[in-house]
Amino acid sequence: MEYLRLCAASELPPGEMNQCDAKGKEFLVLNVDNRFYCLDARCTHAGAPLVEGTVKGLVLTCPWHYSRFRVSDGTVINGPAHDPLHSYNVMLKDGQLFIEAEAVQP
Ligand code: FES
Repeated sequence: MEYLRLCAASELPPGEMNQCDAKGKEFLVLNVDNRFYCLDARCTHAGAPLVEGTVKGLVLTCPWHYSRFRVSDGTVINGPAHDPLHSYNVMLKDGQLFIEAEAVQP
């Protein structure tokens, strides 16, 4: 199985999020209470860069029109976005964060 490296876990303290590029695609990686999550980096409503939004607990708020998404699975808590963010399982190995390449949509 092929894995894509996102970033080092040490770059992402609890409560922080980063945008990472892998395989020509942007991902949002978050640390909530030392659990790591990975979502698509752009809002499904109008494409805002979610890294400029805010995260509080497991709720991610878009910076443009304030859609809220659940960090753990990308579901929409409230719009205007209708579509969920794709969410990826994050693996931690040797201090680095990875996702499965097969899980990434083209
Ligand atoms: S771009 Fe995110 S809510 Fe509009």
